[in-house]
Amino acid sequence: MSLKLTVIFVICLIHFYPTMSSDPDPVQDFCIPETKHNSSRTARFTEVPCRNSSNATVDDFVFDGLKRPGSFNAMGFTGISVNPAAFPGLNTLGMSFVRADLDVGGVNVPHYHPRATEIAFVLEGMVYSGFIDSTNRVFAKVIGKGEVMVYPKGLVHFQMNVGDSPATIYGSFNSQNPGTEKIPIAIFGSGIKGELLEKAFGLSAKELEMLRRKFSP
Ligand SMILES: *[C@@H]1O[C@H](CO)[C@@H](O)[C@H](O)[C@H]1NC(C)=O
Ligand SMILES: *[C@@H]1O[C@H](CO)[C@@H](O)[C@H](O)[C@H]1NC(C)=O
Ligand SMILES: *[C@@H]1O[C@H](CO)[C@@H](O)[C@H](O)[C@H]1NC(C)=O
Repeated sequence: MSLKLTVIFVICLIHFYPTMSSDPDPVQDFCIPETKHNSSRTARFTEVPCRNSSNATVDDFVFDGLKRPGSFNAMGFTGISVNPAAFPGLNTLGMSFVRADLDVGGVNVPHYHPRATEIAFVLEGMVYSGFIDSTNRVFAKVIGKGEVMVYPKGLVHFQMNVGDSPATIYGSFNSQNPGTEKIPIAIFGSGIKGELLEKAFGLSAKELEMLRRKFSP
């Protein structure tokens, strides 16, 4: 290979490697962080030193915070993320979990996880559930108790409770820090220049203002 080609190859490798990678493989059985850390809302996951494993106990690997749902937001949705910030025993294991509850008619707005595929299990309820692929095809149907659906990594997905009682869903991620971008908030609640949004969505200044008020965090 010529030097020029080698340089291009290396640049491509450096550039594309992170988008193909998953969480790194652990180099030890487990790594309970020494100090409680705070990764739930940060895209960047900083490595933290592990506690001395000789004082680990079974309780470091048990999490009991999912027994009850949180309180519903305005969309009739509530979620509890089980990531290493909540459950330090998960750290470095390349997985995390979520409990989501939907009130009757409640919606988990279109969102995606940049770093993980999610598999969702319906514990209770009837849920219109789906995702959109990169050709804008929608794959959606109503799934019920005992059924699972997979949302491929990085694709926009959504859920709505179409039954007549609250729904409970458990989701599992192949990253300890899947990240979540909710489309309405990312677009209308993030401070993108108004002129751009008006053009992109064909909105008047007044309509945009309404959406911004609704979705500002
Ligand atoms: C975690 O991070 C958030 C946002 O960066 C901050 O508001 C919060 O106080 C932090 N919590 C702890 C326990 O450090
Ligand atoms: C284990 O040691 C760490 C300090 O390295 C300490 O913070 C923690 O409380 C200890 N845990 C137990 C169960 O003794
Ligand atoms: C971990 O704790 C054990 C028991 O207290 C001790 O013998 C060992 O040296 C510690 N290891 C490290 C790396 O600090």
